[in-house]
Amino acid sequence: MRISAHARSIQPSLTLQVAARAAKLRAEGVDVISFGAGEPDFDTPAHIKRAAEAALERGETKYTQVAGTPELREAVAAELSRAHGLRLGVENVIVSVGAKHSLFNLFLALLDPGDEVVIPAPCWVSYPEIVTLVGGTPVILETRAEEGYRIDERRLGEVVSHRTRAIVLCSPSNPTGALYDERTLVGVARVVRERGGPDTFVVTDDIYRRLVYRGEWSSMARVAPELLGRLAFVDGVSKTYAMTGWRIGYCAAPAELIEAMAKLQGQSTTNPASVSQAAALAALTGPQEPVEEMRREFDRRRRTMVSRLREIPDVAVHEPAGAFYAFPDLRAYLGARLPDRDTVIEDDLALAQYVLDQARVAIVPGSGCLAPGFERLSYATSMSNVEEGLRRFATALGALRR
Ligand SMILES: Cc1ncc(COP(=O)(O)O)c(C=O)c1O
Repeated sequence: MRISAHARSIQPSLTLQVAARAAKLRAEGVDVISFGAGEPDFDTPAHIKRAAEAALERGETKYTQVAGTPELREAVAAELSRAHGLRLGVENVIVSVGAKHSLFNLFLALLDPGDEVVIPAPCWVSYPEIVTLVGGTPVILETRAEEGYRIDERRLGEVVSHRTRAIVLCSPSNPTGALYDERTLVGVARVVRERGGPDTFVVTDDIYRRLVYRGEWSSMARVAPELLGRLAFVDGVSKTYAMTGWRIGYCAAPAELIEAMAKLQGQSTTNPASVSQAAALAALTGPQEPVEEMRREFDRRRRTMVSRLREIPDVAVHEPAGAFYAFPDLRAYLGARLPDRDTVIEDDLALAQYVLDQARVAIVPGSGCLAPGFERLSYATSMSNVEEGLRRFATALGALRR
């Protein structure tokens, strides 16, 4: 069958593949510990579920406005105004089917063929693929573990030009957990002003902003208010409120851009699910204690995971400040032989496969995040899984012949 060039031009999501492989093994009765998940293991807080039930009872089962219900858009505008120190109105907000969909609509509305998007790597697997899919050109900017994945202003200056339509910042980062401090954001803003074009945007993916364990999350809007007309903030309830399956994300941006995104959304998904919107409204306006409880638990697991990883010989890991991933450097294990002495572990994909086969632990190869030789381990799983999974992981690495 002929499949379109569009569909052929992108890679399937590696994280979703790992999750599917782990789920399949588990269904076959294999005791797999998954560090692959990009989602909280907690259940959605009870008051949010109750709000969805109440919406169903009220008969909120019809189409809503394409860009989201006025109540939810208002709540998002209020929440993001607080976070970014702005006065956003509903005209600045669109609600979509998850933050991934917000990003998709955003790039579809921003990019013409050949427009460049600068993406600091290691990066979330989907940025380059979404940019490619909508006709843009990803430009990858290397950041380094030994520099805390900071964006180097000089190196950024070398890739930003009038062709740059956007720079995407993800802080705290999936996959590294790194958090950009104010100095870094000031540097990025300077490069955008001095080297970018008049319509070069800064897109911040703030989906993990409430999951910070060290340092403070900073907003580009506070640091560089002069860029306000060229900032877009992507955010959502998936990670913060353990609501990945509800599929609600949102974007705040200049009204003209939001209007364009709504036009695109109106010809694709229409509104996000009405009941999910009612749930998201309860999440944003209801008690926030569950968020803090989850954050504290993630932090406990983070500490355990990082310290166990550091006990493994020749594994280096930059301490994650936020999100729920550790991103160890396993390059010292590439070229090692399996215990049978014949097969060589050539790359991080083979290493992840070996760890799954040998230790029954699912991890995500760094190549998908444009960081070959690294592996992403999510600690969005129980403390006992973190402990047992790391024990198995260390044993499997120890069995390799280097
Ligand atoms: C950095 C980043 N942005 C966006 C998303 C997508 O979130 P959602 O589930 O709301 O589409 C994810 C999910 O893994 C993510 O890690």
